[in-house]
Amino acid sequence: MRLHSSPRLLALSVAPLVVNSLQLPFGITLPAALDSRLSSLRTAVTQIQVPSFINKIIDPTGSSPLLSLHRDLVGIPSVTGDEEAVARFLEAYLLAKNFRVELIPVASPEYPAGQKRYNVLAYPAGGSRKAPILLTSHIDTVPPFIPFKDGLRTVYGRGSCDAKASVAAQIIAVEELLAANAVTEDTVALLFVVGEETTGDGMRHMNTLDMQWEAVVFGEPTELKLAVGHKGLAMLTVEARGRASHSGYPNLGVNANSHLINALYKLDHLTLPSSKLLGNSTLNVGMMTGGVAANVIPAFASAEVAIRIAAKSFQEVKDIVEGALKDVEGVEATWKQPFYDPVFCDHDIEGFDTIATSYGTDIPNLAGKHKKYLYGPGSILVAHGDNEKIDKSDLYEAVKGYKRIVKGILNAKAVAIVPPESASASAPVVTEAETVEAVTVSAKVEVPEVPANRGAEGKNGKEEEKVEYVTILPVDTA
Ligand SMILES: *[C@@H]1O[C@H](CO)[C@@H](O)[C@H](O)[C@H]1NC(C)=O
Repeated sequence: MRLHSSPRLLALSVAPLVVNSLQLPFGITLPAALDSRLSSLRTAVTQIQVPSFINKIIDPTGSSPLLSLHRDLVGIPSVTGDEEAVARFLEAYLLAKNFRVELIPVASPEYPAGQKRYNVLAYPAGGSRKAPILLTSHIDTVPPFIPFKDGLRTVYGRGSCDAKASVAAQIIAVEELLAANAVTEDTVALLFVVGEETTGDGMRHMNTLDMQWEAVVFGEPTELKLAVGHKGLAMLTVEARGRASHSGYPNLGVNANSHLINALYKLDHLTLPSSKLLGNSTLNVGMMTGGVAANVIPAFASAEVAIRIAAKSFQEVKDIVEGALKDVEGVEATWKQPFYDPVFCDHDIEGFDTIATSYGTDIPNLAGKHKKYLYGPGSILVAHGDNEKIDKSDLYEAVKGYKRIVKGILNAKAVAIVPPESASASAPVVTEAETVEAVTVSAKVEVPEVPANRGAEGKNGKEEEKVEYVTILPVDTA
């Protein structure tokens, strides 16, 4: 109603909105004032009946299946341990879109009794849970919950980037692939797991279900680039023990802090493996405690250390660290969970920039010989911050990206998929895969054997052979 009383406002606001609906390229920002004008205008407009084309301009989120699914997901709090509501939402959403949905309970002794946590597995109603291609991401977020907030070209809220942007884009991508007959119903499944942000218990639970896939596309923020892999992780506590005494008589005591300093100096100057693909391993002494007062020889000191492993394995890095600490008096290293080797991802699909990431994912938690792709909208740099956000244009781009990856997987394997009911028909159903030979006339998806040695060590064997050992100096002395 205020719309009529304020024609000037309308004139000011609609022009940029029309531009926005055409998906502005990155880097073009509109004044914040317009954003708030938009909000008040939108509020005014939702209270009156308007033709749908106006609604599309005024409320691009509400009228976009992608943006509104994303908004609904972000609006549901789902800090790790508290994922039931978002799982139930996805169940209802996917059922309504003609998917079969399994809520897979994940036992969680560490959370309050009665707390229900579910992984959500979905596949087209005419398909099967044995689909060869899986798109997966996680539905839990880090704390605290931050409500959804809409902006002109960016939306905010906890999980808006990590990883509900991936969840929404994967769902819409599969819906669009099916609608366009670009894949058959038995080609693709969706899996959204709990617990990624803490222990990975949701994904590891899948290993108990005797399921396997030919290719798995993991959704995490990779800035719309195809990840070549991510570093491995080792974490340890270094403890130093001494004997307390008066600081005036140090010969009567043993200084635990001195032991710890010796140990940490060695760790800070370690020579660790690096690879061309993932760069240098890095080591961070993240926390130190020791002693009780300036005039007491400390009896105990400890430090927490995290190492991001760029080449070789957790075991190799553990051996290097233990070798370095062997001759340091009075210290002991305790290795912590979780730990994992560097992860090397498949990135054999044309048309994507690549990226090496330094954060952990669920990839090492899912056992099997599947191909591994890692891709998603948004930047990890905002993922866990107070200002978590995602550009709407990135969400749209990610839908295209996931579709291209699925088609690329099908292309690469030259898979011809024919639905069971038309097994005698000759037309292949993989419409976009022009290089695919339509030779297989069977209901089965035929995929070449994956060599048994692929995976963490195997896949990029050539690149990985070039392991160098690099000493990262802790302080930039320049
Ligand atoms: C790895 O570390 C070496 C030595 O500090 C440095 O010269 C090099 O630039 C680093 N490489 C990368 C990719 O950060």
